[in-house]
Amino acid sequence: MTNKSKQRAKTEISFIVNGEPKTVRAYTMERLLDVLRQQLELTGTKEGCGEGECGSCSVLLDGMLVNSCLIPVLQAEGANIVTIEELPPEIRCISCSRRFWNTVVRSAASARRE
Ligand code: FES
Repeated sequence: MTNKSKQRAKTEISFIVNGEPKTVRAYTMERLLDVLRQQLELTGTKEGCGEGECGSCSVLLDGMLVNSCLIPVLQAEGANIVTIEELPPEIRCISCSRRFWNTVVRSAASARRE
């Protein structure tokens, strides 16, 4: 096996998703968005622009709001991920999800300061 093919080999990556431990086999630079949707079937996380602009792929990664289309899955190793599936169904619409996540993050930051 050449060095180049070793770099391209899939690796096991473990994290917590919506409170459950998960291990996936993925290329280290594969997008977190694709792993969530394709391997874990968490299709509530959507791809819109694919460039970090629209927020339809938003997830919480260790409490930080991130665009999963810009996050290599290796960066999520050991992390705690929360996806839109964790939200009550009545507030899952794409247009309100970004606003909701912003509110969650602001509330968490405010609670930490108190
Ligand atoms: S798909 Fe638009 S920010 Fe990720």
